[in-house]
Amino acid sequence: MKVSRRNLVVKLGAASVAGAALSVAALPKAFAQGAPAAAAGAGVVNIYSSRHYGVEGVFETFTRETGIRVRFTSGPDAGLRERIRAEGRHTPADMFIAVDAGNLALAATQGLLQPVTSTALSSNIPVHLRDPGNHWFGLTQRVRTILFHPARVQAAQLSTFEALADPMWRGRLVMRPATHSYTQSLVASMIAAHGEARTEQVVRGWVANNPQLIDSDTRILEVLAAGGGDVAITNHYYLGRLLQSNPAFPVRLMWANQAAGDRGVHVNISGAGITTHAQNRDNALRLLEWISTPRGQELFSGSNHEYPANPAAPVHPIIAGFGPFRGDRLDLRELGRLQADAIRLLDRAAYR
Ligand SMILES: [Fe+2]
Repeated sequence: MKVSRRNLVVKLGAASVAGAALSVAALPKAFAQGAPAAAAGAGVVNIYSSRHYGVEGVFETFTRETGIRVRFTSGPDAGLRERIRAEGRHTPADMFIAVDAGNLALAATQGLLQPVTSTALSSNIPVHLRDPGNHWFGLTQRVRTILFHPARVQAAQLSTFEALADPMWRGRLVMRPATHSYTQSLVASMIAAHGEARTEQVVRGWVANNPQLIDSDTRILEVLAAGGGDVAITNHYYLGRLLQSNPAFPVRLMWANQAAGDRGVHVNISGAGITTHAQNRDNALRLLEWISTPRGQELFSGSNHEYPANPAAPVHPIIAGFGPFRGDRLDLRELGRLQADAIRLLDRAAYR
């Protein structure tokens, strides 16, 4: 992780975030209570972000153009959300950037984010990718879909997430554990579509197929490429990254749930909101608006091969090559509302 004088980057593991969540005193020194207050109005924005892929370059460009310095602390979505809650009105965070709409929605319902009225954000970010109450805004789209090894599987054998419960996939699946928000939001979207009983039946089918559970989408795709499995569920941009470094990377992608009448493939967002107690609210808003412009979008989404939220922004050529998809238009707040139900369902179905 790069640490520069301009951008202070503090990397926190899950354990340290959980530990720090209960105590402001446990914060790194630069984030100790008072430091951001001294910086208020002095051209700073403090961010808690679970999105750490390639953001340093984006924030450096923003600083060059605006003079506003960006400091960010990274960690997992739920850990950072819990930390903002525990810090209350003393939080150093002006902005929360998360890689899952469920956690953004939960932050809003917990009162951690303030509503923002911005014509730039309203016109740059489509309605279905932002909170109707304007507490958070999607900045990129990440599509969770089905990946396969083309020597062992034909695309025509694949159709939906649900169909991966078929016994034909026994011993052939590679998936992410239940502890990760990507798995939880996918299952939450299925609960929204089918209800709990049908979703549990599907998840039990996956489990009966004895999937390998690996807590890294990149590692999942590497296992697939090496012949350690045939079919996987990952986010699209992990394949984009691997293709960037090796155009012959032997894994293919298909868009799940595309049949007429089906809901479309699972689309989540990375997005951001301004904290209720932000001390640098105007700077945070300026950064949010800047990222929503086509130029900010190109830098922010392109650095990680994500689809921009702003339809006027260019799409990275590698992922443009994946072809068009129809995404699930589920109200993204449902991913937050159903998160706890999804976790309980995964546990009941013995998906670990
Ligand atoms: Fe990711």
